[in-house]
This record gives sequence, C-alpha cells and structure tokens, in this order.
Amino acid sequence: MSELSLAPEAAESFPERKPYTGLLSWVASVDHKQIGIMYMLVALVFFAVGGVEALLIRVQLIQPEATFLSPQAYNQIFTMHGTTMTLAGAVRRPAAAL
Ligand code: HEM
Repeated sequence: MSELSLAPEAAESFPERKPYTGLLSWVASVDHKQIGIMYMLVALVFFAVGGVEALLIRVQLIQPEATFLSPQAYNQIFTMHGTTMTLAGAVRRPAAAL
C-alpha cells in the first residue's frame, strides 16, 4: 500500500500545524463529535434560560391581575420564552445528533 506524502517543496509551503490545546481546541474543532457536544451544551443553556422565562410568566399568572410584570414586559417575556425554547433550544437538539 502506498502512503500519501507531500512533495518536499509543497511540504515547505504547508508546515505541519501544532494541534490546539484547551478552549481553543474546542472553538476551532472540526471534529463532528466535539461540535455535537457543544450543540447539546448550548441547547441545554438555552433551555435553562427559557425555564427562567417560564418561571417569570408563572409568577405573573399565579393570581389574577398580578402586577409582577407590566403588560408590555409580560408580552416580551412570553415572546422570548417561545423563541428561546423553540429556536435556540429545540432546533439545536436534533442538530447535535447529526
Ligand atoms: C420546546 C419548546 C418549549 C418548551 C420545552 C417549553 C417549556 C415550558 C415549561 C417547562 C414551562 C413551565 C410550565 C408551567 O409553568 O406550567 C413553560 C411555560 C410556558 N410556556 Fe413554554 N415551552 C416551550 C415553548 C413555548 C412556546 C412556543 C410558547 C408560546 C409562544 C410557550 C408559552 C409558555 C407559557 C405562556 C408558559 C406559562 C404557562 C403557565 O405557567 O401558566 N412555550 N414552558
């Protein structure tokens, strides 16, 4: 079996890159398994943020006419909860498995 190697002049123009270490090895990774893990972690963070937004909604709705959130803030949190959970969380989960 033949081994692939660069011609000496080409090897000079493409010196071997040192592998990154630490955080940079994650940020610059092209390994699909590492990227999948990062997708999952980011989705979990967004689910947690969406959970906090849900709690704010729950506190507002705990009794009629509560004034914990202004009507405008309620609408904003409601919208952010839906967006965070679906677009930032749920859409990212299956992508982690690809
Ligand atoms: C993957 C998508 C979603 C997940 C995992 C999710 C999860 C949750 C959770 C765990 C709660 C707390 C349950 C409770 O307080 O009874 C909640 C509450 C709520 N969610 Fe979502 N949610 C999602 C999408 C949405 C969307 C798209 C909307 C609307 C646009 C929405 C509107 C609400 C509202 C209004 C509440 C407060 C309900 C209440 O406490 O009476 N959610 N959600």
